[in-house]
Amino acid sequence: MASFKPSHILVFGATGNIGKYIVNRLITAKPPFPQISIFTSANTVSTKAELLNKWKAAGVSVVVGDIKDSTEIKNAYQGIDTAISCLGRGALQYQFELIKQADASESVRWFFPSEYGTDPEHNPSSANEKPHTFKRAVRKMFAEEIKNLKPTYLVVGPYIEMWVPKDSVSGFDIQKREATLLEDGEQPIGFTAMDDVGKGVVAALQRPEVSVGKALKIASFTKSSNQVLAEFEKQLGEKFNVTYVPLEDVKSVEKKFWDEGNPLAVVAALRRIWVTGGAVYDKLDNEALGLDGQLQTLEEAVRNRIDGKPF
Ligand SMILES: NC(=O)c1ccc[n+]([C@@H]2O[C@H](COP(=O)([O-])OP(=O)(O)OC[C@H]3O[C@@H](n4cnc5c(N)ncnc54)[C@H](OP(=O)(O)O)[C@@H]3O)[C@@H](O)[C@H]2O)c1
Repeated sequence: MASFKPSHILVFGATGNIGKYIVNRLITAKPPFPQISIFTSANTVSTKAELLNKWKAAGVSVVVGDIKDSTEIKNAYQGIDTAISCLGRGALQYQFELIKQADASESVRWFFPSEYGTDPEHNPSSANEKPHTFKRAVRKMFAEEIKNLKPTYLVVGPYIEMWVPKDSVSGFDIQKREATLLEDGEQPIGFTAMDDVGKGVVAALQRPEVSVGKALKIASFTKSSNQVLAEFEKQLGEKFNVTYVPLEDVKSVEKKFWDEGNPLAVVAALRRIWVTGGAVYDKLDNEALGLDGQLQTLEEAVRNRIDGKPF
């Protein structure tokens, strides 16, 4: 597949947090991809009409159906050679059937499972991390069962847009000039801007010789929490009130959330994983994908947060 050129791409989860960025970058790719379709639900068609109309005007075809219906998926795959899943965590269990149907189809050859997060195979302890369960199972399925389809996994760091705002574990309150950071704030983290995830997918599609069958790793910039804080303080010209939370406290909160069945447990787990080196890699694929110098800098990312740029 080293010289494979995607001719008809189908995107699942297109209007979600990261799907939007990926589709927007697919639409504006140069040279253009010949055909782009999205598969979405009737509900999304009615609730996100403006976005879908914009995409239709740009040449995107919209297939309406239910990702849980195998027949509809089978029909949607006709003539598709490349599928990109951007399904959210709440729908990751449906990917197995999407992949099975793609493998059985006559035309689909390349599949990007919904990853766009930290590497679920980062180190031996990754196997025990609950947020990685479905992503690891998908990788296993490709390794052991799938015959006619090649995967590409795009591994990225925390989205800087989502990492900055304060949640129940850590983050920044820009208005109040407050920051809650984990440990001593010195651990490096490979952050990714959401738009850069879109660029990463396009770069991978344009370079099958680099990307087919691989878990690619990209980061916009690798910085510590303290460096992010220092950039906020520099741009705003004011000091923040900073609280440092020990890792043991994060683990206690995470355990409490898991015990309660609170969905914030995933957030706590990921914040813990990120601050203990889970989003730092010996080698990134930025250069191999032609992305060096193309991705957002810390300065730009912080400026966007201060300006309240929507994402
Ligand atoms: N690195 C990070 O910081 C970070 C942050 C967030 C997410 N992620 C990762 O990015 C990937 C996508 O996450 P996301 O936040 O973009 O997803 P999302 O916005 O929650 O959902 C994406 C799309 O999935 C479809 N979907 C969701 N729930 C569904 C359901 N129950 N039934 C059918 N379809 C459903 C919808 O598709 P339609 O658009 O067709 O309606 C939705 O727009 C995940 O793998 C997630 O782990 C990474």
